[in-house]
Amino acid sequence: MLPYPFMLTTLQSKRGEVMKVLVVGGGGREHTLVWKISQSPLVDKIYCAPGNGGIAALAECVDISATDIDNLVKFAVDNQIDLTVVGPDDPLMMGIVDAFEAKGLRVFGPNQNAALIEGSKVFSKNLMKKYGIPTATYEVFENSKDAVEYLKNVSYPTVVKAEGLALGKGVIIAQNYDEAVKAVKEIMEDKVFGQAGNRIVIEEFLVGQEISVLSFTDGNTIVPMVSAQDHKRAFDNDEGLNTGGMGTFSPSRIYTPEIADYCMEKIFKPTVQAMKQEGRKFKGILYFGLIQTKEGIKVLEYNARFGDPETQVVLPRLKGDIVEIFNAVIDERLSDVEVEWEDNAAVCVVMASGGYPVKYEKGYTIAGIEDAEAIEGVTVFHAGTKLVNNKIVTAGGRVLGVTAVGSDLDQAIKTAYAGVNKIYFKDMHYRKDIGIK
Ligand code: AMP
Ligand code: GLY
Repeated sequence: MLPYPFMLTTLQSKRGEVMKVLVVGGGGREHTLVWKISQSPLVDKIYCAPGNGGIAALAECVDISATDIDNLVKFAVDNQIDLTVVGPDDPLMMGIVDAFEAKGLRVFGPNQNAALIEGSKVFSKNLMKKYGIPTATYEVFENSKDAVEYLKNVSYPTVVKAEGLALGKGVIIAQNYDEAVKAVKEIMEDKVFGQAGNRIVIEEFLVGQEISVLSFTDGNTIVPMVSAQDHKRAFDNDEGLNTGGMGTFSPSRIYTPEIADYCMEKIFKPTVQAMKQEGRKFKGILYFGLIQTKEGIKVLEYNARFGDPETQVVLPRLKGDIVEIFNAVIDERLSDVEVEWEDNAAVCVVMASGGYPVKYEKGYTIAGIEDAEAIEGVTVFHAGTKLVNNKIVTAGGRVLGVTAVGSDLDQAIKTAYAGVNKIYFKDMHYRKDIGIK
């Protein structure tokens, strides 16, 4: 990539209008968004709230949290922001898009009533049932007594899900009756996820490989992005606890053009139509968490936003200007835009703090990022980092997403790990098998 200030001045002078963009969030997904937006000739200034140590090289970081909606609105008004792009789920569920729109500000993301497709598993399961979208069979429960009674007659493993957002921990795969009852009591009686556990879904356990497909949609047209696959467990061979994601690759090895056509007709278009019919037109990024079972592809979950770390392997493969796509979505003219992809592959290896996802230290100096990025094809997206006295230090569980593009997956894997090998911080931990399965 060209050095940022140079790129802007050359491109800016060719265009009459330039935009100020605000990105909300501060993880690896937002670093990738800022990186891609910074390549747009339409943009001359990027702010990121709150940002992180890596984002600070491309954008002005603003010390406002992603859920402080009042102050984000005030910042956007005061600084005449032309476009705001929202990364994380919680501000979307809280209604950040509605709050920005109420002030006449342009913002990319779904309204609160549409973000419910991620915010409530009861809503999303009922939507799929009503519109015939393939998913696991399920029942909804409003109290623990009925749920426990029901658990006596299901086959195991079975899946217990808190209705609301629970930091990725609200899904419990119970191997037997006792584990399932324990999960129900923790969620509904002990309220370990707070209000998110007022209702639960108990559903059939599905077996198969997972595929993530993110899409752009303006509420009428849907344009899927290239497929990706996440690695959620902390250790190699999918062992250890669930995490926010330890690495990703794109494309998925199992997502054939035939499967893509099936998903378009039976899942993607019907979901967009269903939301419109329900009076919850969805504009933004609709993320489909899919699983390939013996009976075909089914939906595991919807997200109302870019995935993290899926974004890190999908956006580097996008040709052209992402800001043009964001504008087309907001103005509901996505059907007029060509969205094109490189015929290549990408891999992201997450480097985490030792002990993540449970307990870990912060504040360790990170060495070798520049050496990693000197390798052709490598970009290091920062997740939990901070700039302290001009040094990048660790500041979270997932620290870096070392990302490489290559002509195919095998090459991208090799290049990504060559990048990882240049980087060091105390107690660092990463998986050695990203992209291999
Ligand atoms: P969710 O938030 O609903 O996607 O669940 C998070 C993760 O739990 C998924 O990515 C799957 O790995 C797993 N999962 C969720 N539902 C099921 C299911 N019905 N069968 C098997 N695994 C599931
Ligand atoms: N990587 C999974 C997610 O963003 O939900």
